[in-house]
Amino acid sequence: PTIKFVTHDGNEQEVEAESGTTVMQAAMDNGIDAILAECGGACSCATCHCYVDEAWTDRMPEADEIEKDMLDCVLEPQDNSRLSCQITVTDDLDGIVIRLPESQY
Ligand code: FES
Repeated sequence: PTIKFVTHDGNEQEVEAESGTTVMQAAMDNGIDAILAECGGACSCATCHCYVDEAWTDRMPEADEIEKDMLDCVLEPQDNSRLSCQITVTDDLDGIVIRLPESQY
């Protein structure tokens, strides 16, 4: 499946990801700067915060409690905020648009 990353200032980068990997991993593999992922995907750093385009939010499982707690700590939360390390790439998500926050700490 392809994932399109869009930076806060509108730069787009489309990448090809393996099913079963995570959106965070796909970002790491493709040098997406706005995803830091300091904890390496353990759902404990929140530096992999991203915004999922509304067209895809229904096609993925909701955030669990741990992820929701972590999302409470991000700088610019929105209704479609997710931690990219908790989004598993599936064929269903082909073409998904992921927007990146301006500040990732
Ligand atoms: Fe740390 Fe996602 S990589 S919470």
